[in-house]
Amino acid sequence: MSMPVRPVPAQMSNDVPEDVLRVDGLHVRVGELELLSDVDLTVRRGERVGLIGESGSGKSLTALSIMGLLAESLEPFGSVTVTGQDGRHTQVVGTAEGDLAAMRGRDVTMIFQEPMTALNPTMRVGAQVAEVMRIHRTVPDRHTAAARAVELLDKVGLPDPAEAAKAYPHQLSGGQRQRVVVAMALANDPALLICDEPTTALDVTVQALVLDLIVRGVEARNAGMLFITHDLAVVASVCERVLVMYGGRVVEAGDVQQVFTQPRHRYTRGLIGASDLDLTRPDGRLYTIQGSVPSAGRFPHGCVFRNRCIHATVECESQPRWEGSGPEDGFACWHPVRVRDAQGVGGS
Ligand SMILES: Nc1ncnc2c1ncn2[C@@H]1O[C@H](COP(=O)(O)OP(=O)(O)O)[C@@H](O)[C@H]1O
Ligand code: SF4
Ligand SMILES: [Mg+2]
Repeated sequence: MSMPVRPVPAQMSNDVPEDVLRVDGLHVRVGELELLSDVDLTVRRGERVGLIGESGSGKSLTALSIMGLLAESLEPFGSVTVTGQDGRHTQVVGTAEGDLAAMRGRDVTMIFQEPMTALNPTMRVGAQVAEVMRIHRTVPDRHTAAARAVELLDKVGLPDPAEAAKAYPHQLSGGQRQRVVVAMALANDPALLICDEPTTALDVTVQALVLDLIVRGVEARNAGMLFITHDLAVVASVCERVLVMYGGRVVEAGDVQQVFTQPRHRYTRGLIGASDLDLTRPDGRLYTIQGSVPSAGRFPHGCVFRNRCIHATVECESQPRWEGSGPEDGFACWHPVRVRDAQGVGGS
């Protein structure tokens, strides 16, 4: 059933905006090994949610689970529901590939770190942008698709878009290629855009420009966005909510401002301390995280962060309870940062 369209901004209406993504109790296993455990996550229409955590924490696996793009050896359990612009729900886990193809590229799209992952090296970029619209029949004919592709290439800031449309990917710079990918990702006005380190591979000089394009494209469509990055400053400027992942689990979630200035989980505190957000301890020293991320299956039982945490006690040998009002706001730590410890952390 589609929701009635009401001309009131979400924050002024009593209705909670519709979820475009709902992940409930997602687990991903490879054989006996659990790579993701009990992941809960929602993104509403128009909402931008960050997903942070060190490399190897399970962020990309979460994104691939949502897209239904996990490697065949990996088995997902739980529930992932995507709701498209037309109100159509897709339950991703357990759905046949043929049905997911209809969802992917239309209801939900993804921008990867490396643009060539999404581009066909043997096809002109204009034709590739046109093709995503033709596949999903969001344009009436070939001619309209080609014209709209040039329009989209113009919107993402490619100079001389009609000429650029005729180029092959190798004739463009990395930044231009990622702009083409952004055009493809937005072509069908998706309800949800997932970005996995979308600017990490680009020149520092073009990173901010491409990021700005993505955010403006999402805003113009009132789409939801799940934004994966190791750059906490970008999350602080782009997202309203954030989830912190470690060891294949969400260890903390909440409003960006709150999580970044008053982290509760010891891992979050370390992550923020180790970032260039420049938060220092009351004694002026930097917080850091000792040791490195274990490989899959090598995380300790109980709290997954236990072997790196200076606050660990025997209690931490059992799985910490989730404390908070719900999956969008809370943390799982037996000995959270107390407000007194947190004084001096934060700033703005
Ligand atoms: N296809 C796979 N088979 C086995 N292990 C995998 C596979 N893909 C990822 N992993 C493991 O799962 C863990 C989480 O990976 P990933 O989600 O890519 O982390 P992140 O994106 O946070 O860096 C890592 O330990 C990684 O080695
Ligand atoms: S539960 Fe224990 S080991 Fe885990 S982060 Fe909290 S204090 Fe550290
Ligand atoms: Mg990753």
